[in-house]
Amino acid sequence: MHLSKGSPQSSLPVEHGVNLRALNTFGLPATATHLVRIGSDADVRRLLDHPRLGRLPKLVLGGGSNLVLTRDPPGVVLRVEVTGRRLVAEHADAWVVEFGAGESWHDCVRWTLEQGWPGLENLALIPGTAGAAPVQNIGAYGLELADRFDELDAVDLVTGRSVTLDARACAFGYRDSVFKHDGFGGLAGRSLVTRVRLRLPRPWQPVLGYLDLERRMAETGCAHPDARTIFDWVCEIRRAKLPDPALVGNAGSFFKNPVVSAEQCHDIIARDPHIVHYPLPDGRFKLAAGWLIDACGWKGKNVGRAGVYERQALVLVNRGGASGAEVVTLARAIQESVYGRFGIRLEPEPVVV
Ligand code: EPU
Repeated sequence: MHLSKGSPQSSLPVEHGVNLRALNTFGLPATATHLVRIGSDADVRRLLDHPRLGRLPKLVLGGGSNLVLTRDPPGVVLRVEVTGRRLVAEHADAWVVEFGAGESWHDCVRWTLEQGWPGLENLALIPGTAGAAPVQNIGAYGLELADRFDELDAVDLVTGRSVTLDARACAFGYRDSVFKHDGFGGLAGRSLVTRVRLRLPRPWQPVLGYLDLERRMAETGCAHPDARTIFDWVCEIRRAKLPDPALVGNAGSFFKNPVVSAEQCHDIIARDPHIVHYPLPDGRFKLAAGWLIDACGWKGKNVGRAGVYERQALVLVNRGGASGAEVVTLARAIQESVYGRFGIRLEPEPVVV
């Protein structure tokens, strides 16, 4: 890796030949031909004005926790490092907090609790950055980012203009937002999130409907846990089920939980009465992808150096030295066997480059 200053008038620090292995939680090998660290909106505009790099394709990299690198990304990698955590407003019915997009999500959750502003505890220990949280509308234990979202600031990667988007403009869905869609109206590859503002309702109300949390309440005899207790429970549950990316490369759930019609769900139940399914308000059903993969016998299996985690079949892991191609080959094999047995197409959650 070497550093250049770009052209004198742009004074943009550009790193060349950067190894990305430590910058993606799967630990996959790839090299960024050019990498620029983004600390502000102005840094993005400096890059866009750069005579050589400004027009190249751009990959926005946060914590690299939702990414499968199968090759060296073309063009420039923008590593988002916008920092800052602050209380923006304190209303009678909510605290509004703001996080720089480059802040660690989990540190933000812990910090809000320490400050006495609860509301994010169910989303503890999710890997990645605050800026990536709205992109895939992170969710866990009965809560989604969209439930706490206020607005975000972003920079348009074509015009360089700074914009503020509300929840409606972000078009949140299950592990989905406008930032994951290209084509008309979509912002995939078009926008870089710089700051995220969340609204934490007052008075605080616990979110306890998820089975794993109900179990904890029963086991501990604690019927009215405070936010800190829920935070601790969520951390314990996640540590027991999910691999720590610092130790075992992974990108969390590899597939989304598929949604099927009531008819399709009843068909599958008739064949597999144990299938884990949840009714949705619109009459359809969400199926547990982990259960489907597990039922096809994948838990603990490997393809090359990529594998299926022993304690949660929805998580693919790097057994050590895996390539992105091996991960993708394993993912395809899983998709084929789930389709063969259940007629359901699993959709990957991470972005494949
Ligand atoms: N199951 C199995 N075998 C498995 C895995 C799961 O039978 O190998 C069954 C479980 O017993 C359970 C059901 O499937 O009855 C659901 O499992 P779990 O509660 O672990 O949750 P999930 O649906 O697999 C989702 C999110 C996770 C989130 C948890 C908790 C998705 C794609 N994943 O997983 O999010 O932490 O719920 O809310 O929605 C992530 O997105 O990276 C992630 C980890």
